[in-house]
Formats: sequence, structure tokens, C-alpha cells
Amino acid sequence: MTHRLENKIAIVIGAASGIGRGVAVRFIEEGAKVILGDVDPACAATALAIGADFVPTDVSSFADVEAIVDQAVKTYGRLDIIVQNAGIYPWQLIENTSADDWDRVMAVNLRGSFNAARAAVKVMKAQGSGRILFTSSITGPHVTSPGHGHYSATKSGINGLIRAAALEFSGYGITVNGVEPGNILTEAIQLHRSPEFIKSMEDAIPLGRLGSTRDVANAFLFLASDDASYVTGTTIVVDGGQLLPEGNDFRLAPDRP
Ligand SMILES: NC(=O)c1ccc[n+]([C@@H]2O[C@H](COP(=O)([O-])OP(=O)(O)OC[C@H]3O[C@@H](n4cnc5c(N)ncnc54)[C@H](O)[C@@H]3O)[C@@H](O)[C@H]2O)c1
Repeated sequence: MTHRLENKIAIVIGAASGIGRGVAVRFIEEGAKVILGDVDPACAATALAIGADFVPTDVSSFADVEAIVDQAVKTYGRLDIIVQNAGIYPWQLIENTSADDWDRVMAVNLRGSFNAARAAVKVMKAQGSGRILFTSSITGPHVTSPGHGHYSATKSGINGLIRAAALEFSGYGITVNGVEPGNILTEAIQLHRSPEFIKSMEDAIPLGRLGSTRDVANAFLFLASDDASYVTGTTIVVDGGQLLPEGNDFRLAPDRP
């Protein structure tokens, strides 16, 4: 532990499991006090296990996000960092996606991100400092796959929001950034994806493995820390090089193990 977030107060939304849990654990290791928000009541047990607070939060509701921000200020007197990581990714071809299906993914992933920025800016503007961070994805901004139309649109939208909010909030000492994970080996992926799928992803990733939640959390840690004080309006890709190959033949290079 290097105390990079000593005395910092952070909210992580979408933290019952997976990447959000990993970010919260990493922040706590570095000295932050962390409040978890999630629509899943199981997040209470996560909070207990890692030494965080928990406020039930549906990120698609502005009132809920405002309430968790208010709770941070009430408990700790300030809010230094907010990570909006909550996201849903139902697999659905565009031709089978109803308007309601579309709106639900927009409401959680994109409106939820807007809600986090809008709720946090009030407090951070008054403080004259803050870090607003989002989990985007390589899916949408760079690549996609069939069945991820709505999801891809939300993640591209988050990157636009990051740039707009970074510019609008730049006069208040607030930075706004995001992380774009590639394929991360979360509990959900291990549970729901076949070993064949995981092997095929490993083969497609130049570094030869899926990412860990800690790989993603380390990028968030940098963006949340004082080391990133001059970084705003951008995203960090954490994908093991997955975006790099022009084709499937990259392992054929001479001397490649
Ligand atoms: N796992 C990956 O490979 C990967 C890759 C790129 C991006 N991402 C993004 O990372 C984020 C986390 O994904 P994960 O893989 O850890 O999945 P996950 O399903 O384990 O985590 C998502 C969390 O968000 C919560 N959530 C869902 N709807 C919510 C709502 N309305 N309000 C509050 N919380 C809500 C869930 O309960 C869960 O705890 C998502 O935004 C996802 O799009 C994941």
C-alpha cells in the first residue's frame, strides 16, 4: 500500500461484484473511505466484506444518486471521487430490441452516468476539487459484436459525456475521465461463459490472457490519484492489446512464443 488515496472519500456505483468491487478494494487498500452504491442488495455483504459503507442505489434514478452523494457528505464532510461503473449488457440483436429494451440500457448505462456527473458536480464545485470517473468499454468506442447495439451506443455515449463534462467542469478543479476495459475475467464471465469462449478470447488477446478486475482498478487508481491531476477528458484502454491486431495472423510472427 502506497497511501495514494489517503483520506480521500470515494463513491463506487455498481460495486456488488466484478470490476466495481475490484475498484473499491483497490481504493481502500490505498487509504480511501469508500461508499458502495448498487441496485443489488447483495452489495451490502460486499461492503461488509471489504470494509466499505453501502447505500442502495439505482443509478438510473437521479434521486438515488443524489442520495448517495448526500450520504457521503453527511458522513465524511466531502466527496473526492465518484466512479460510475454500473452497467448492463443484455445480449440482443437490434432487430429483436424493443424501444423499452433500448431505453432500459440507456437508462442504466448512459443516463446513470449523466446522473453521477450531475449529482457529483454540485458538491465538487463547492469544494473546488473532484474526480469523476466512468467505466466505458472498448465495445462501442472501438469495436463491437452482434447483439451489443444498445450497449455499444451507451459506451460511445459515455466517452462523449466524459469530454463534455471535462470541459464544463474544468474551471472548478474537477477532472473527468474513464477506463475502457477489454475482456475482463469477472465472476459473471466465469459463471456464464464456456471454457471454450474464454480460450478463444485468450487467443485473440496479444498478452495471452483476459484482464483481471485489479488490472482495471489500477487504471482507475491512477486517474483518481494526485498523479493524474493534469489528465482530463480522456480514457485509458485496459485490454491486453486486444485492439492492436489488423488480423488473426499476429501469432504467426517469427520468434513469437
Ligand atoms: N467484464 C468485462 O469484460 C467488461 C468489459 C468492458 C466494460 N465492462 C463494464 O464494466 C462495468 C462492470 O461490469 P462487470 O463485468 O463487473 O459486471 P457486473 O454485472 O459484475 O457488475 C455490474 C454491477 O452493476 C450493478 N448494477 C446493474 N444495474 C444497476 C443499476 N441500475 N444501479 C446500480 N447498480 C446497478 C450490478 O448489480 C453489478 O453489481 C459495466 O459498466 C460493464 O459494461 C465490463
